[in-house]
Amino acid sequence: MTQHLSGELKWWQSGIIYQIYPRSYQDTGGDGVGDLRGITQRLPYVASLGVTAVWLSPIFKSPMRDFGYDVADYCDIDPLFGTLDDFAALVAEAHRLGLKVMLDYVPNHTSDEHAWFQEALRGKDSSKRDWYVWRDPAPGGGLPNNWKSFFGGPAWTLDPASGQYYLHQFLPTQPDLNWRNPVVRQAMFDVLRFWMKRGVDGFRVDVIWLLAEDERFLDEPANPDWKPGEVEHNSVLHVYTQDQPETHQYIREMRQVLDEFDDRMMVGEIYLPLDQLLPYAGTPDAPMVHLPFNFHLIQLPWDAHAIREFADRYDAASRAAGAWPNWVLGNHDQHRFKSRVGAAQYRVAQTLLLTLRGTPTVYYGDEIGMQDVPIPFEQMVDPAGLQQPDSPAAGRDPERTPMQWDASPNAGFTSAQARPWLPLAGDAAEINVAAQEADPRSDLNYFRALTRLRADFPALVRGEYRSLDTEFDDVLAFERTTATEQLVVLLNFGPLARELGSLVSGSTLLSSLGDQPEAAAPLRPNEARIIKR
Ligand code: NOJ
Repeated sequence: MTQHLSGELKWWQSGIIYQIYPRSYQDTGGDGVGDLRGITQRLPYVASLGVTAVWLSPIFKSPMRDFGYDVADYCDIDPLFGTLDDFAALVAEAHRLGLKVMLDYVPNHTSDEHAWFQEALRGKDSSKRDWYVWRDPAPGGGLPNNWKSFFGGPAWTLDPASGQYYLHQFLPTQPDLNWRNPVVRQAMFDVLRFWMKRGVDGFRVDVIWLLAEDERFLDEPANPDWKPGEVEHNSVLHVYTQDQPETHQYIREMRQVLDEFDDRMMVGEIYLPLDQLLPYAGTPDAPMVHLPFNFHLIQLPWDAHAIREFADRYDAASRAAGAWPNWVLGNHDQHRFKSRVGAAQYRVAQTLLLTLRGTPTVYYGDEIGMQDVPIPFEQMVDPAGLQQPDSPAAGRDPERTPMQWDASPNAGFTSAQARPWLPLAGDAAEINVAAQEADPRSDLNYFRALTRLRADFPALVRGEYRSLDTEFDDVLAFERTTATEQLVVLLNFGPLARELGSLVSGSTLLSSLGDQPEAAAPLRPNEARIIKR
């Protein structure tokens, strides 16, 4: 059971994953959209952060209806981002800098412009018809059942030529592949091989828990907890479209393909409760994903007690399952964590992410404290927002705005004349990499101090985790220990100073407030402190 836990840790266990949203990192072409050459240029900065791997959101050929999560050719780069040669240069530079490269693999659906779907549309006799999921209308006509799209509206669209509906869990331009078809699975496995042969070290796997649907195509039951105004997708319980047993089998097969190559990994996007999440790590005999993404820090209330309760449960359950833990505070689908937890708690959250036991994933810009950028409806481009105007929080543009590099026009993201594809933050002239490089007390340098501590103190990476009792509900305290090292992390979630008494002895390694208080000094409001006993 301890396959992942014994011996040397793998890079995806000891390391930190850094997510880049390519449209928003660095534009070199002057079209206002980031590109591969831009990312390559910025890789020395990425390496300077002390992270281990870059994960790129999709860069494949795409009509960009869902900004690349609608893939028209899995084995080519979209011209907006560059060429296969540009990608080779990116991989070479990353590897030269000691960084791993992870791609975003989107197996659940293609673009409607993919040649496979175009062939399937030719009719019921098409050789690729069964590569997608088709149903006849309900007996009286109309939709085959009540399944819903994540982006609002039904998960079915009629193909008028054949009179059948096809399934799409996202946009109508994102038809679901039929993973029950073994020929589809082989074609999609070949995509993994294609990129691994080009040096790719790992994959983030898009909506991996959605691959299969129940074959009976029954209506999903109403969700009794849903309230009008919440996104429509949540109005039913997804008992037939998510987390199906067949999906687990397909992932085992996918893992075998990864294991044809040395030292590769995959992290699966899975929004499920803990008891359904951990099985996605598989077993020693039948492994599945290396890391099932743990999004609970995003979903839990920002509350020391709730987070302690979850962290304790997750740590124990991961051990029991032989799974390596991981933590996420932000990604391209979630509002920026600084906006969620508030500026006062920003460093407390960053410290938590980088000191809990397990692999942290960091979203670009969070290391300099980027916040959500308000996007008026007229400027919105995200289909999740445009299709659900009654649920304003559904739009994901605010967390996808261009990286803030310096105080020049367009913040150094693109040329001064260009129009960035999304507006820059209003505070980009103050909150940017250049300004923070120059300030030893900046958020950027605090982030680096945290990654340096992970490098200097193995207890933060491989040590045991144990939470500690304090008399305060708004303090989270835990230790990370190896046989020779004992570190204590103290996080004050509240606005009051807290005297922790005998809990703290030793010396302070780092305080989020930028000074070096005595270990035993009261924990100040909103302070994160790391102590060596
Ligand atoms: C999950 C991705 O993270 C999201 O951005 C995308 O819209 C959907 N999957 C569809 O691929």
